[in-house]
Amino acid sequence: MKIKVTSPGRVNLIGEHTDYNGGYVLPCALNLSINLYFEINNKQSCVKTDLGYSMTFNINNPYKKSSIHWENYVFGVIEELRKIKSDLNNFSCSIKSTLPSGAGISSSSALVCGLIKGLSKLNEINLDNYEIINISRNVEHKYIGVLGGIMDQFTIMNAKRNMAILLNCEKLDSKFIKLELKEYKLLLLDTNVKHNLANTDYNQRVSECKEALQKINRLCKKKYTNLSQVNRVDLSSSKEKLGKTLFKRATYVINENQRVINSVEFLENNKLKEFGQLMYESHEGLKNSYEVSCKELDFLVEYTMEYDKILGSRMMGGGFGGCTLSLIKDSFIEEFIKEIKQKYFSKFKRKLNPIIANLNQGIQMSLN
Ligand code: GLA
Repeated sequence: MKIKVTSPGRVNLIGEHTDYNGGYVLPCALNLSINLYFEINNKQSCVKTDLGYSMTFNINNPYKKSSIHWENYVFGVIEELRKIKSDLNNFSCSIKSTLPSGAGISSSSALVCGLIKGLSKLNEINLDNYEIINISRNVEHKYIGVLGGIMDQFTIMNAKRNMAILLNCEKLDSKFIKLELKEYKLLLLDTNVKHNLANTDYNQRVSECKEALQKINRLCKKKYTNLSQVNRVDLSSSKEKLGKTLFKRATYVINENQRVINSVEFLENNKLKEFGQLMYESHEGLKNSYEVSCKELDFLVEYTMEYDKILGSRMMGGGFGGCTLSLIKDSFIEEFIKEIKQKYFSKFKRKLNPIIANLNQGIQMSLN
């Protein structure tokens, strides 16, 4: 049996760092993906990528952490699947990708979800989408060390073409929102500032938010289960005791969560200009209150403000590098890309990688 899995990247329209705070996000799946081709191989297991990396091992060997970062995604998936079925088949997997890595468009979750989907099929393990999402999150937490939320995996497993998913990350309730961007398109500008969230302050933000929540609950005698639920009265009455940093983090999360709700209303009523404004506000919060941006991202976002053919722009994903997302008039894209590439290179001596974000469905699997 040969299995092909196509696992897409994700674009998040708005709602950044709200997922692990039990709030709302508004993601969609990209038409760029990681394609994985699986086959049973009786002798040994082998995973190779089109970037020239490869790893060979016996699937029945006990788990051992690798010193090579990406190999831990593979070993982590195998270890989690082994807990469900102890005797797994050796396999070969060849990976071909159109999805840039380290760009904040979720290449790691695309890889992990794709591996789980293909290997579970190859080993006759029945998993539904929720189980795959959970295993994938466990892999990132336990074997990679990034304490991320559920947004990326949920999107990869469930997305529909040209729809955004309004997802409540606490209840895992979701609703599809049809995206009608008229003469506008979504443009990603990849800074080529590579981030590996395991080495950034991402986990620190996760623990700051936990601490802020505990303090607010204690001070206000409340039992909020997540930071996104906190009301503004409780937030401001906790201001002093929270201290400057935790207050900034909590304020950002509460505001960003509200921005997602407002964005849906704007998008459903074709108010693209108003939605664009919220993208700028989101960036301002990520830069100044949540402090996960960087100078390259800020430059790209600020540059778009000069043009009324661009309705909004913000950094996207975990931050500390990666890409910006802008809502731009289709007819202006070519001219703008040419200009911004030059400006970016002359300022940072880095190549800018523009990607027009066409939206697609979630993960697909085919057998032959
Ligand atoms: C990364 C994580 C997500 C989410 C975003 C920020 O992509 O994997 O779970 O937290 O950062 O919104």
